[in-house]
Amino acid sequence: MEVGIEGLSIAFPEVYLDLAELAVARGVAPGKYLDGIGTRRMAVALPEEDTVTFAARAAREVLERTGTAPDQIGLLAVGTETAVDHSKPVASFVQGLVGIGPRCRVFETKHACYGGTAALQLSLDWIRSGNARGKKALVVCADIARYGIGTPGEPTQGAGAVALLLSDRPELLAIEAGTAGIAAVDVHDFWRPLYSKDAMVDGHYSVQCYLDAVSGAYQHHKELVNAPPGLYSDHFAALAYHVPYGKMAKKAHRQLRSLDGDVDPDASFERLVAAGLMMPAEIGNIYTGSLYLALASLLENTKAPLAGRPIGLFSYGSGSCAEFYTGVVGPKAQQWVRDLGLPARLAARRSLSIAEYEEIMRAREDLDRRPVGGAPGRDFSFLGVDGHRRTYRGPAQA
Ligand code: CAA
Repeated sequence: MEVGIEGLSIAFPEVYLDLAELAVARGVAPGKYLDGIGTRRMAVALPEEDTVTFAARAAREVLERTGTAPDQIGLLAVGTETAVDHSKPVASFVQGLVGIGPRCRVFETKHACYGGTAALQLSLDWIRSGNARGKKALVVCADIARYGIGTPGEPTQGAGAVALLLSDRPELLAIEAGTAGIAAVDVHDFWRPLYSKDAMVDGHYSVQCYLDAVSGAYQHHKELVNAPPGLYSDHFAALAYHVPYGKMAKKAHRQLRSLDGDVDPDASFERLVAAGLMMPAEIGNIYTGSLYLALASLLENTKAPLAGRPIGLFSYGSGSCAEFYTGVVGPKAQQWVRDLGLPARLAARRSLSIAEYEEIMRAREDLDRRPVGGAPGRDFSFLGVDGHRRTYRGPAQA
């Protein structure tokens, strides 16, 4: 049975911060952020937005676009690093807001940026096992990447969600079973203590951990498929990497090609990777969703037809667990993503001033205790906290 991604949709904030302006404000040469990091703009969540509202928005859109009734969903998982409650999963809020019925497994998965891929792979196995009995899985990868003002991680923030409808009709990507290469190691490269809203990171060490994980997972995959010697990765039409920032994906590709024995490992970057970095450069890091944003970006921006061609995907979560897996692009994939109208939606966003951005950053410390009030934003909104209960409004409650 072929299983994989039947539908995909993306939600992101209506506002962004221009990284050239941030560089000037931080006394850094703009080239460092634009070229050295490889991000032009980063999405910033507004006070009425959070992981739940992004996840709900993306989930509702993928259900509508695929014509999937909520009762066809038998498993709803949200992968996130930025949950809103220590106990109640983001997925339960999404269930309520989107109207998914009671006969559904609903839960959250966590492993830094790998949590979404963990949910995806386990959901695919659930479908392959026959236990889904014709139902589909909805996996949403949703996050707000947060580092402190003035920290090295500041230009690698972002916010948004990618919703993936998984089924035995993989019209976007049929995912291969049994050949995912895995690399997991207990490391402290990036983490977030329970008392902190901001991520902590040993930045340069985290880059090295990511690169080691590329080696481990890709080597494992090659063993599982008995890869022939030589430039095995030329077998793929494209490669999508987890993109905390564009330069990291470039380093990852260099590592992967070097493992293939490529003496000029950057030469294939434009051909295999660059199309996948265009949207991440506009949104920034969305942790669990960033690999799937790269996938959407490569489908959107690759001019040549990809239908029927294999691609490789590398997922990395600090802490760490990583996976290199493969899929075959479905017949509808490129048109599907183009129909989402992402370039126009990105172009319609509003630029924040540095003062507005810093005000949002400072205000977020108190957001989780904000009493209900104020005007709700569009479609899904976080209204505030009522008797320790987070309160949301969606179109159904409007
Ligand atoms: N013009 C062009 N390039 C410039 C430049 C200029 N004027 N000035 C500097 N650069 C280049 C540097 O040469 C460097 O490039 P290379 O990496 O190719 O050498 C690049 O800009 C960055 O410079 P620094 O390494 O000096 O930057 P930094 O130390 O201030 O911060 C960072 C970099 C450590 C990645 C930091 O942004 C950070 O901590 N980010 C968060 C952690 C992260 O994203 N880690 C990635 C792996 S972990 C992961 O993937 C999980 C996750 O999602 C978090």
